[in-house]
Amino acid sequence: MESYSNKVMEHFKNPRNVGEMENPDGIGHVGNPVCGDIMELYIKVKDNKIIDAKFKTFGCGAAIATSSMVTELVKGKTIEEALKVTNQAVVDALGGLPKVKLHCSVLAEQALQRAVDDYLKKTTGKGLGLPEEDADHHKSCENDLPEELK
Ligand code: FES
Repeated sequence: MESYSNKVMEHFKNPRNVGEMENPDGIGHVGNPVCGDIMELYIKVKDNKIIDAKFKTFGCGAAIATSSMVTELVKGKTIEEALKVTNQAVVDALGGLPKVKLHCSVLAEQALQRAVDDYLKKTTGKGLGLPEEDADHHKSCENDLPEELK
């Protein structure tokens, strides 16, 4: 079985930016119906830049480490730059994840996208046109889970 990188362990043990944000400009709430893990990500935006990001995750160690890393990665980025932060970018920044835990990083990407979507809807009235939440969750889990768990 593949093991976790030092960086994953470090972010799992000392997650950055944990907690709820007061008056966030965008909230992204996602869940994985297969494992039941839930992630909520908050962003504060000023002049089109994400000036703060926080998260609350009820989930596995990889979900906590990816939440922590995604909040670190998006801070200081413009909305457009933040949308380019993929789950792969989060995984790379963590020094990799075991294959069976890759779906956990997808949760982080989705939470970020939904937080940006929420921000855009509130400020411009037009979001990113993301699929319905349930369909989204289901798709990501189906795609990322190992064959035997589908
Ligand atoms: Fe559910 Fe990691 S096992 S997000």
